[in-house]
Amino acid sequence: SKDKELIRGSWDSLGKNKVPHGVIMFSRLFELDPELLSLFHYTTNCGSTQDCLSSPEFLEHVTKVMLVIDAAVSHLDDLHSLEDFLLNLGRKHQAVGVNPQSFATVGESLLYMLQCSLGQAYTASLRQAWLNMYSVVVAAMSRGWAK
Ligand code: HEM
Repeated sequence: SKDKELIRGSWDSLGKNKVPHGVIMFSRLFELDPELLSLFHYTTNCGSTQDCLSSPEFLEHVTKVMLVIDAAVSHLDDLHSLEDFLLNLGRKHQAVGVNPQSFATVGESLLYMLQCSLGQAYTASLRQAWLNMYSVVVAAMSRGWAK
């Protein structure tokens, strides 16, 4: 479909440079919600947000997030096959104290990164296509919070 083409086409270039794009996304996330930084226990010794953002553990998490997005893009035709993985991933985030509502802020940060990186290619339909895919990912992760 058109949505899948838009997502694949934009990820072709972004996916080759995961860390820098992930850093743009998480810098935005901590701008929107600075409290989220404290959920990364290894950031407690950082001087500034900038220092945290360049710590190896933090960059590893950024890489992990980008790899999940990469997996979603490669499984656009069968996102359901990621269901168990994502549910478990949600559980792990519950365990580290993430509130599932924060995923909306992550979504905004993802769109911000896409806008910065794609420029003119960031259109209303591209935005919606990404939001739709991200919503499926977040819905599956959020099922990990069920009591
Ligand atoms: C693990 C925090 C969003 C993917 C973790 C860990 C923390 C964390 C503290 C454990 C330590 C570590 O592995 O670095 C957060 C916070 C988020 C967030 C505060 C935003 C509210 C996401 C999103 C994704 C993601 C949106 C992917 C779509 C992962 C993965 C792991 C992880 C793959 C490793 C899980 C494992 O060990 O199997 N996250 N995370 N995170 N996170 Fe996140």
